[in-house]
Amino acid sequence: MTQDIATLPAAGLPATLVSPARKVFIKTYGCQMNVYDSGRMADALAADGYSSTDDIQDADLVLLNTCHIREKAVDKVYSALGRLRDMKKVREGEGREMMIGVAGCVAQAEGEEILRRAPDVDVVIGPQTYHRLPQALRRARAGERVVDTDYAVEDKFDHLPDAPKVEGRARNVTAFLTVQEGCDKFCTFCVVPYTRGSEVSRSLAQVVGEAEKLVKTGVREITLLGQNVNAWHGKGAGGETLGLGDLLGRLSEIDGLARIRYTTSHPRDMDARLIAAHRDMAKVMPYLHLPVQSGSDRILKAMNRRHTAAEYIALVERIRAARPDIAMSGDFIVGFPGETDADFEATMALVETVRYAQAYSFKYSTRAGTPGADLPDQVDEAVKTARLAQLQDLLLKQQHEFAEACVGKTIDLLLEKPGRMPGQLIGRSPWLQSVNVDAKTSQIGDIIKVRITATGPNSLFAEVAES
Ligand code: 5AD
Ligand code: SF4
Repeated sequence: MTQDIATLPAAGLPATLVSPARKVFIKTYGCQMNVYDSGRMADALAADGYSSTDDIQDADLVLLNTCHIREKAVDKVYSALGRLRDMKKVREGEGREMMIGVAGCVAQAEGEEILRRAPDVDVVIGPQTYHRLPQALRRARAGERVVDTDYAVEDKFDHLPDAPKVEGRARNVTAFLTVQEGCDKFCTFCVVPYTRGSEVSRSLAQVVGEAEKLVKTGVREITLLGQNVNAWHGKGAGGETLGLGDLLGRLSEIDGLARIRYTTSHPRDMDARLIAAHRDMAKVMPYLHLPVQSGSDRILKAMNRRHTAAEYIALVERIRAARPDIAMSGDFIVGFPGETDADFEATMALVETVRYAQAYSFKYSTRAGTPGADLPDQVDEAVKTARLAQLQDLLLKQQHEFAEACVGKTIDLLLEKPGRMPGQLIGRSPWLQSVNVDAKTSQIGDIIKVRITATGPNSLFAEVAES
């Protein structure tokens, strides 16, 4: 039986007067889009009578929202499912229900195989069909084992409910908002075009509507998400084609929304209007995640990135001309098939030229079904390990240099959440650094002026500059 949202335990009512809701525990792996998707799945389930829990022991449904991008992602999911199988046995001994669902990119890639290898899984649901999760669970409860990984003909965003309003819940100051999904770029190392499908943009009206609702709940900063977020395109009122720069302009008009970010961008889609947005729009934060993957033209070509190292560097120069204080962030892969010492040195040289404030770097990992998997000259694991260590040393040094350069600056800080010490809050700098400052809990959501006083290993320290 499903429950109406009205039967959810409500604040102020004695527990005996409300029916117990089913509870879902969601474990999220991978990227920020999965974090967003997990939130939307929780909303869809809330509309169907589930409440969320942080305690797996308390959950009637355990949902793994999985990632397939690198390394032993699939193995990790199967070993987690093994542990859940043991837990389910104990539960059954106690006469309690525990359903198991697998969502996300491993669900999409593995499909039926998950049911074969993990006999206790009840539901496998893909990233494009998770609006149908409540139906899938109902079918599973009726005894079926459900795999729903089609590319749905309908748009899931038209079918997902808004987040239910929960009185007294701490307001979220920051939120993710998916504006674009999928990818048509087909970099030869990457599974995304296969797991998330081809590039689809949500409409301007849908995005603006969701942003306005988020702001009404107290959100001050929105991060627009997409695997290729700057490939976003929409239609204006006169039928004209809009790009991400235009979307940023439209979102800037929302009163109460203080800050806008977006991730992840492809260098090929950084158009002039988007670059100008960093110069002209105060709400667009000076931070840009712009993966380059390698600094070697030969490897960039083999990766099908469709730009050279020099083109990337020239692009960064144009972006810095528009917004001189922009913090650059990037992704790097070492050990792509065929990568020589000279190719790797070209990556190190590119990093020296660009100077990153933040970066993510990985050893190449073969993804079955991608063109990279079939390339000759796979690089030795030990060589990958050594190159990664060398690259990460340099990137970390640059990150610290960027942080050190902030000391003494007075900046706007968006206060987000309680800090580790009583009386402290953690906020975000415009450049996405965590900053600790003495402030009251009631100030969460405020933007205050602070002066950066010192750097820590992963965060900065500041004092209030003016009230
Ligand atoms: N191996 C290593 N890193 C990868 N990435 C994507 N696919 C792979 C792979 N097969 C990295 C890229 C990408 C980031 C999200 O993950 O750097 O930008
Ligand atoms: Fe993957 Fe390349 Fe698409 Fe990024 S642009 S999601 S790395 S295929």
